[in-house]
Amino acid sequence: MKTIITYGTFDLFHIGHLNLLRKLKSLGDNLIVAVSTDEFNELKGKKTLIPYEQRAEIIKSIRYVDQVIPENCWEQKIDDIRNNNVDIFAIGNDWEGKFDFLKEFCQVIYLDRTDGISTTYLKSTLKNFLSVPKEDIINALNVLEQLKRDFE
Ligand code: CTP
Repeated sequence: MKTIITYGTFDLFHIGHLNLLRKLKSLGDNLIVAVSTDEFNELKGKKTLIPYEQRAEIIKSIRYVDQVIPENCWEQKIDDIRNNNVDIFAIGNDWEGKFDFLKEFCQVIYLDRTDGISTTYLKSTLKNFLSVPKEDIINALNVLEQLKRDFE
């Protein structure tokens, strides 16, 4: 049995995450996903919109995923690989080269990311949307109301 492990935050779950998990599972039989805890994200200077328990539950319910463990710190990877008899460590290629030191313990693979989507992009789109001035929204609604009346 081939075991794969990956690490990530997986905030605002999106198609890039799903594509990655599908590719990871296709590398073997048993996929372990280490989901970054809120405390660890804070340490990384990352603030998530979705709390750890919910992110972990979402990942656990994906059919390609066999097990979810918490990612509490940078240093746990070697222990995780040893304790779970991991054959492959794999992650998106935004991390290219960063985990080559794990090659001593298992195979290391960097996978192509899905173009055009990321949590950062979703967050900034949401922020732009929320910062549209109230008057612009009211004007747009008035135009729509007028159009509706014209068609009635
Ligand atoms: N990932 C991917 N394709 C994307 C986005 C993410 O393959 N379009 C992969 C990352 O390379 C990583 C995993 O999904 O292996 C989890 O990444 P995460 O950082 O949680 O997602 P991002 O959308 O990249 O989040 P952020 O913008 O906050 O970095």
